[in-house]
Amino acid sequence: MSEAPLTVDVHLTPADLRDALKDDVATGLRHRPRSIPPLWFYDERGSRLFEEITRLPEYYPTRAERRLLAEAAGRIAAIARADTLVELGAGACDKTRLLLQAMHAQAPLRRYVPLDVSEEFLRAAAAGLVAEFGALEVHAVIGDFQRHLDRIPFGGRRLIAFLGGTIGNLVPAQRARFLFDLNCTMAGTDHLLLGADLLKDPERILRAYDDAAGITAAFNRNVLHVINRELGASFDVERFEHIARWDDQQHWIEMRLRSTVDQTVIIEDLGMEIRFAEGEEILTEISAKFTFEQLQSELEAAGFVVDETWGAAEGEFLLTLAHPYC
Ligand code: AVJ
Repeated sequence: MSEAPLTVDVHLTPADLRDALKDDVATGLRHRPRSIPPLWFYDERGSRLFEEITRLPEYYPTRAERRLLAEAAGRIAAIARADTLVELGAGACDKTRLLLQAMHAQAPLRRYVPLDVSEEFLRAAAAGLVAEFGALEVHAVIGDFQRHLDRIPFGGRRLIAFLGGTIGNLVPAQRARFLFDLNCTMAGTDHLLLGADLLKDPERILRAYDDAAGITAAFNRNVLHVINRELGASFDVERFEHIARWDDQQHWIEMRLRSTVDQTVIIEDLGMEIRFAEGEEILTEISAKFTFEQLQSELEAAGFVVDETWGAAEGEFLLTLAHPYC
């Protein structure tokens, strides 16, 4: 038996990413409320801080999802019968191992296609998997799951995993668009594995985004370090405080950065000068929490048929396996 080549392909260069950051910051900071999309948290430092968050006592989603994956991986592999695992927003590729092992036990595994914005981080994680799964071809895509679904390689039977609750970063209109776009790129034999955080006691949710050790605060502020470095900006990072707020109407967490003083920030590469009044905020992330019924109907509306779900009874976190309706 010949072994598959081990390759890491980079489809989006640091220059491409920097251009996208420029657009997002120029647009986001001009509008009200001022905002910066959450994908820009994840440079190497931000990705590492997020890994720390996943180990915090207050941050339950990662542990809840891992528990469900450990329980369901065999079933998922048996239903999907995929030879390719695509992972959107792969990060440290940590939960991936559970899926890869279960898929490998089912049928020969051909490819692992992780997509993430953090190149250094993805390279390191991919190298680890290559060492672990000998004949696995790794085809990494450096990119943003909202913009670069068309860069994901086709072929074979694919299981597309979108885990961690990252779907919650999208507002309803973006979510509908994303799920529909994703559905359009999928063959009838492909499957989607979606991980989403469930609606529960708001106090508990809030604590997960405002931990006692201040790791989430450091993660939130990191986006200002990224903008300082990449766009020659002058954010005085310590003069923005971390805010986590629960929106009881929308059922989402909002993370914001609040200016603690009147201050002016210069963004050299955009020729922008921004005045922040004391108390003025930048919206940096929403993290929506779902009901079981809501997820089912949003998936159906985007053209998916649900195969099976895990976690609804415990009410912590939900895994859903689905495939395109054809
Ligand atoms: C990676 C988007 C799933 O929303 O819970 C964690 C990011 N932000 N703590 C989430 C995050 C603050 C996380 N996701």
